[in-house]
Amino acid sequence: MYFCSGYYRFLNKDNHWCPWMTTVLRSLYFVPCFKILLNHRGCDHPSPTTVHISIGDDEKGYDLDLFCIPKHYVDDLEKVYIPHGLIMDRTERLARDIMKSMGEHHIVALCVLKGGYKFFADLLDYIKALNRNSDKSIPMTVDFIRLKSYCNDESTGEIKVIGGDDLSTLTGKNVLIVEDIIDTGKTMKTLLSLLKQYNPKMVKVVSLLVKRTPRSVGYRPDFVGFEVPDKFVVGYALDYNEYFRDLNHICVISETGKQKYKA
Ligand code: HPA
Ligand code: MG
Repeated sequence: MYFCSGYYRFLNKDNHWCPWMTTVLRSLYFVPCFKILLNHRGCDHPSPTTVHISIGDDEKGYDLDLFCIPKHYVDDLEKVYIPHGLIMDRTERLARDIMKSMGEHHIVALCVLKGGYKFFADLLDYIKALNRNSDKSIPMTVDFIRLKSYCNDESTGEIKVIGGDDLSTLTGKNVLIVEDIIDTGKTMKTLLSLLKQYNPKMVKVVSLLVKRTPRSVGYRPDFVGFEVPDKFVVGYALDYNEYFRDLNHICVISETGKQKYKA
């Protein structure tokens, strides 16, 4: 279209075509084509980070009475935020997205303890089911690490990795880091730069939750289950001073709970 419309304007006074104009018009023609190509890619393969369930700031959650809550926690929680069933359904889909994106080679799944253990176990169960029921399957090995902040309250960005194999076993591997929650993102940024020193072939991060917080350093994982408001959430292995890991649903802790389990 660009090429045809008004090309007559570029004929010189002897009605001959100006050769340099061919180059100009060809480049104009390719600009829109290239743009369409990019848009098309954008539609077919949205970045996995853009795909998640967002829990709004005004989300009221569900009354505790509607679910089965351990008796020892009934006064310590405000609301059920993400019921266990929804966590499982979202995790099943994350397993599929991860396999689609990383499923060409052997994966080392690296669980960040302790908070990541439930999500890790359920995610791997879904990945194993895909491996069992598909023509294409990939071997997976697992490893577990714990991270300790040097300065133990506010994350300073300095972390110490404890447990797990020597990180040099990750050299040349496709690594999937499995995390429970990204809050400020400082810890994950530091872990990623630490892992980079061991030259893995690929590193992807899946986090069940990402917190919407003004303290964020802007880090976004490759795969996200849910984005949650800036509130302290517990359950499904996420803890408050080691309590609430024995709760199935993800809930908001109450003031009573905070006081009761204060360190
Ligand atoms: N809950 C549990 N652990 C956490 C949270 C949270 O909201 N944020 C950072 N670590
Ligand atoms: Mg964690």
